[in-house]
Amino acid sequence: MGEAEIPIELNRQSSVNLAAQVANQLRAAILKGLLQPEHTLPATRRLASELGVSRGVVVRAFEQLSGEGFLEGSGAGGTRVAVRPDIQSPPLIQKRPSSSPPHGDLIDLTPGRPSASPFTHREWRHAWKEALSEQGTTLLPPALGTLALREAVAQHVAVSRGLNAEPEDIIITGGTSDALHLVVDMLRGRRDHPRIMVEDPGYPTARRVMSAAGARLLSIPVDENGLRSSQLEKIRQIPDAVLITPSHQYPLGGRMAVQERLGLLKWADTNGVLVLEDDYDSEFRHSRMPLPAVASLPTNADVVLVGTFSKTLSPWLRCGYLVVRGSAGQRIKATREALDTPVSGVLQSALAHYIQGGGLSRHITRARREYSHRRSLIMDRLGSREDLELSALDGGLHAVIRFEKPNAAELAGEALKQGVRVVPLAGYYSERTPTNGLIIGYGAVTDLQLTKALGILANLLDSTS
Ligand SMILES: Cc1ncc(COP(=O)(O)O)c(C=O)c1O
Repeated sequence: MGEAEIPIELNRQSSVNLAAQVANQLRAAILKGLLQPEHTLPATRRLASELGVSRGVVVRAFEQLSGEGFLEGSGAGGTRVAVRPDIQSPPLIQKRPSSSPPHGDLIDLTPGRPSASPFTHREWRHAWKEALSEQGTTLLPPALGTLALREAVAQHVAVSRGLNAEPEDIIITGGTSDALHLVVDMLRGRRDHPRIMVEDPGYPTARRVMSAAGARLLSIPVDENGLRSSQLEKIRQIPDAVLITPSHQYPLGGRMAVQERLGLLKWADTNGVLVLEDDYDSEFRHSRMPLPAVASLPTNADVVLVGTFSKTLSPWLRCGYLVVRGSAGQRIKATREALDTPVSGVLQSALAHYIQGGGLSRHITRARREYSHRRSLIMDRLGSREDLELSALDGGLHAVIRFEKPNAAELAGEALKQGVRVVPLAGYYSERTPTNGLIIGYGAVTDLQLTKALGILANLLDSTS
């Protein structure tokens, strides 16, 4: 089957905006079976001119339907219908005897996975073509990263985080894990087992990596708004570094108030503690403006911003960056020079072309729209329940639900039997008694999958309340 005939009639007097009208009529045509999975939709430019609307209207409608799972692909092969009309039937919530659902059926709400990567997009492919046609590709990439990518990242953090950084302040890394390993290696130049204070609950991979690299971890209890500076005064064993997620506490999802950030910096300066700011998903704010990065606040303390392309693009790339300054920055750079870089030169070139060409910021805008929509699905489905507390929704790609009953691990086990993978909060705590709850990662699922999964979770919660 080839390109589809699309029966769309627009009502310019309607209070429904034009993009929503296009999306609604396309969705209805798919649900009626007028448009089938083999159909390709016309190019956005042509459809826009046929309908007498701007191309942006059609692009927004296609993005909306892609986010909902009705359409797929937008690269050279065009946009296609992705689902059959039988999705109209209400989602079946069937109990399956086995604890692992048949392959392909699983709706995976594990956090940390972003929306479909832009790898099939024309801009991404173009960036790679440019990178592959460059001269000098038999050389070793510079240890701190290619100049082009360091410049592109400096621009990116200026726009997305309001952080003024020079390309010389940037180190290209193989992602957050590599960055943390590097920092521990640097600290080991002074102490065999550097002490690093980490949030509890916090990011388990960071704990694992830093501990494997030789650090001794000290946990500090935090609530959803992160670390309180008043806690720091009571600390007896001063750490060499502290790792925080101030923009979006991981996993609980709040943010550290500016006053607390300033208090932390004062303490870090007085005690010579290196502050590691894990800024993993602050590009995705949904309801509130992001607060300035800790690394952008005036201070004499050493602060390192740890950034990653794992959320904005994909963890498959294994690429991120550090923004470093001052004497700690010099020592981290020297360590990286000694160890060499694990990041491929061609990947760095392609990423630099992609960012400089505006591809990354356009991708972030699209993905943010998708995430905001999924976040509203979660709020609609779970927000008014009195038996749970819904949080972490200001930004990012995951939500947290906390409840008294049932036991979160048991609920997750039951959900898995019904084809939904969710992760209990307990795995994020190290020394404290965990709160009963679940993390719902909504980055990598379609709206249809999320709606189905939320229905299953709500039924499971109902059945025990
Ligand atoms: C708190 C936090 N930081 C950073 C990352 C990204 O890690 P990486 O850059 O190693 O993929 C994640 C991914 O899930 C995370 O949850």
